[in-house]
Amino acid sequence: MTRALPDDLLKLPHRTDVPFARLTTLGVGGTCRWLFEPTAEHEAQAFVTACVRESLPYRVLGGGSNLVVLGDIEMPVLRLRFPAELKRDGLKLSAPASFGHIRMAQEAAREGLSGMEYASGIPGTTGGALRMNAGAYGRELVDILDTYRFLTPGGELVEKRPAPGEFNYRWSFLARGFVALSFTVSLIEGDRDRIQAQVAENMGKRGSSQPLSKRNAGCIFKNPTGTSAGRLIDQAGLKGFRIGDAEVSPEHANFLVNHGHATATEFAELMDAVRAKVLEMHGIELEPEVEIWQED
Ligand code: EPU
Repeated sequence: MTRALPDDLLKLPHRTDVPFARLTTLGVGGTCRWLFEPTAEHEAQAFVTACVRESLPYRVLGGGSNLVVLGDIEMPVLRLRFPAELKRDGLKLSAPASFGHIRMAQEAAREGLSGMEYASGIPGTTGGALRMNAGAYGRELVDILDTYRFLTPGGELVEKRPAPGEFNYRWSFLARGFVALSFTVSLIEGDRDRIQAQVAENMGKRGSSQPLSKRNAGCIFKNPTGTSAGRLIDQAGLKGFRIGDAEVSPEHANFLVNHGHATATEFAELMDAVRAKVLEMHGIELEPEVEIWQED
C-alpha cells in the first residue's frame, strides 16, 4: 500500500518507481517505489531520523550485487551517492560506502598499498562489503579494517574501531536499520607491480570458475562450516537445473544465473528447490548468503 511521505523526507534527493531489475546485478524484482539518494552524510542522517520519527521501515541498498528482491518495495530505500573520492593518509585508505569495492582494491594497488588484493573480484560497494564482511581466498574485510563510520537505526552517527563480536564470516552486526557510511583500511607498503599482478590474477581466477558473463548475485548460499555450498549443490546433481530463465550455473553450482527473462519468483523457487535437494541428499540446511527483500 502506498503511503504518503513527510515533506522533510521528500526534500531529500530521490526518485520514484525505479525497477529493481536496474538496481540489482541479478536483474529481477519489482518496483522500488521510493529511492532516496543522499549525496552527503547529513542527508543520509536526515533520512534515517525522519524514518524513525515516522516509524517508517526502510531498506539500505548498495551495489545490488548480493540481493534478490521479491515483488515491489513500498518502503523507502536508501542508496548513498556520496562523491567517489578515496583519501590516503600514510598506509591508510578511506572510502565512502558508495565507492565501488573492486575499484577500491584497484586504487590501493595503484598506490602500491598491499592488503586488499583478495577483494579485487568482489563486486558491489564498499558499504555492502562492510555490512557483509566480504571476503575471498581466506581473507576478509575485517582483517584490514581500521575504523568505520555508520548510522545506527536511531540515526546516531558513530565512528569506531572494530571490536570482537562485530564481524564474522559474511556477517556484521550492521544489520537492518544500520547505514554504513565509510571505512578506513590499514594496508602495508608493497611493490606496485606485484600487487597489481595479484589483483589481476584474482580477477582472472574468479572469471575462470564463476559465471561472470551472465547476470548473477554472487554465491547464493553461505558455505556451511567445513564444506562448500557449491560442492554440495554440484554433488546433488543440480548444475544446469532450471526454472524458467533462472538456472543453477553449470560453471559454479552456488551461482544462480539469469538467462535474460527470469523473474524473482523463479529465483525464489529455484532457491527452495536447491535447499530441499541438498537437505535430502546431505542432511545440511543451506543458509542464503544473498539478501532477500520483500515488503513486510
Ligand atoms: N566446487 C564444486 N562444484 C562447484 C563449485 C565448487 O565441486 O560447482 C568445489 C570446488 O572444486 C572447490 C570447492 O567447491 O573444491 C570450493 O569452491 P570455490 O573455490 O569456488 O569457492 P567457494 O567456497 O564456492 C568462496 C566464496 C566466494 C569466493 C570464492 C573465492 C562463499 C559462499 N563463497 O566460494 O564468494 O569468490 O570462495 O575465494 O563464501 C560470494 O561471496 O558471493 C562469493 C562468490
